[in-house]
Amino acid sequence: MKAIPMNRMFVLLLVASFSIISCTSPYADYANVEDDYSVIPIPDKLMSENGRFLVDDEVVIVAAEELSKEAGHLSEVLAGFASGMQPEVVVSPGFGKRPVMLLIDDGDTMKSGGYELIVKADAVVLIGADAKGVFYGIQTLRQLLDTSEAHTDLPSASIPAVTINDSPRFSYRGMHLDVARHFQPVSFVKRYIDLLAMHKFNTFHWHLTEDQGWRIEIKKYPELTEVGAWRNGTVVGKLPWTENDNKEYGGFYTQEEIKEIVAYAADRHITVIPEIEMPGHSSAAIAAYPELSCFPDKPTTPKLGILSEKSLEVQASGTPKVVFEEWGVTDDVYCAGKESTFEFLEGVLEEVIELFPSTYIHIGGDECPKGHWDICENCKLRMQQEGLADVHELQSYFITRMEKYLNKHGRQIIGWDEILEGGLAPNATVMSWRGVQGGIEAAKQGHNVIMTPGAPLYFDHYQADPAQEPDAICCLNTVESVYGYEPVPEELSGDASKYVLGAQGNVWTEYMKDGDYVEYMVLPRMAALSEVLWSRAEAKDFEDFKKRMPVLRNMYEQGGYTYAKHMFGEAVENEE
Ligand code: ACM
Ligand code: ZN
Repeated sequence: MKAIPMNRMFVLLLVASFSIISCTSPYADYANVEDDYSVIPIPDKLMSENGRFLVDDEVVIVAAEELSKEAGHLSEVLAGFASGMQPEVVVSPGFGKRPVMLLIDDGDTMKSGGYELIVKADAVVLIGADAKGVFYGIQTLRQLLDTSEAHTDLPSASIPAVTINDSPRFSYRGMHLDVARHFQPVSFVKRYIDLLAMHKFNTFHWHLTEDQGWRIEIKKYPELTEVGAWRNGTVVGKLPWTENDNKEYGGFYTQEEIKEIVAYAADRHITVIPEIEMPGHSSAAIAAYPELSCFPDKPTTPKLGILSEKSLEVQASGTPKVVFEEWGVTDDVYCAGKESTFEFLEGVLEEVIELFPSTYIHIGGDECPKGHWDICENCKLRMQQEGLADVHELQSYFITRMEKYLNKHGRQIIGWDEILEGGLAPNATVMSWRGVQGGIEAAKQGHNVIMTPGAPLYFDHYQADPAQEPDAICCLNTVESVYGYEPVPEELSGDASKYVLGAQGNVWTEYMKDGDYVEYMVLPRMAALSEVLWSRAEAKDFEDFKKRMPVLRNMYEQGGYTYAKHMFGEAVENEE
């Protein structure tokens, strides 16, 4: 395919000619209704018109070569609605056919990710600021198309006439997934990425390493997955635990699978940011390579003592370290004194950056108990040699050293807000999770920030009355509270607001044993978050959002997704 010239004049002429032609279409005067224009997240500007574009085998997709992936995606979307047809993708419209034209604006007038969508009875023109913008415009088209089921008087699926101008408010629109507490197969990770795409998210934060399991193949350190990806059992239910299920549990992604997922996400304009936790939450790696601990001979000790029979046997036979089986935090963290710890982590990151093209690499930094560092001779010597006042400064040394390594390789770090303690690494981006104070502090220091405060952006928290819900964590984060969230705190209004890149929903999976459970916890809260992140703050209106929500609900149904129904006023039904 060859590129089509895309200057603004060309597009305007094109649209004008469609307007003239469309007077001849039998559906040019079709009267649409308000429900035909349900779009989430709500676009910047939407002007409804009379007329509908029929999706039948007269439709062709006309796209420049650089948009061939988007054209293929649109072809599948249209085929999903009008069974038996899959529009051809061509360079120029065939005579007598109805074109859907995909173009890139060369006028530099739109924000990255923005698009203009013009639907007439005889043609559709979708102009993106870039390929991303075209992709988001297709997601909007998909929602408009979904309303066609209501129009049984029309001979096929159809799209209501409209002009939409739209662009994202924030550049970082993230969803996180912890695959360490409970592992998710490649098929589910792709399904999750599909959900992100449907809601116009652009970042998948993939939490790959934890105390309870190491999930990414590292060729230089094979024990990480041979040993660290498997635990001998898991505590049962909620605190205080009294039982271990004594079942071996685990799994990991091969490097080929990682590449497959990164490419799958890239096709949907989603960046995958891997998280490799350090210096805490690392006891699975320590079980694989005990020298990483300050105290390699000290047995892994669960806080409530609920260890599996297998692990007790293993420890009795002289292997002290096992993969953690309780939830929460353990004292056994990477030793910050030994050089070998840093050599190991650099070896791991060397492979990680080969697999993930993202600018950002998340290196954790949260919840690191420092009791071992206080009494470890290697750590004490490091503090003395580096002139560090305390263990917090030792953590800062640790993170800054890893930052230097990653910066040298052209990458930037993200860390949880604990990386502020003891001094922030010079170029770090902070993910504010213990409320928003860490984010405010980091932005005041001139650092970029991603907001993920527990209230309301932890989707592992309850979304309704705990008595009626499957096990979840802590407090109540309703759909409405997510919808009401404003990522830029008042303290950062004005110029400092530029440091808030966006926000993210976090999904820790201690209780989420399978994909259905994850879906139930994120849907529809991520729909609410999508509007927080994409739409202008002034456009938000929860009652209006609820009225538009059936369009996404239909898509959840069509995709076989499990979702919570509280906002629809329906009885809770869950099997957990
Ligand atoms: C966290 O929830 N520990 C970042
Ligand atoms: Zn140490």
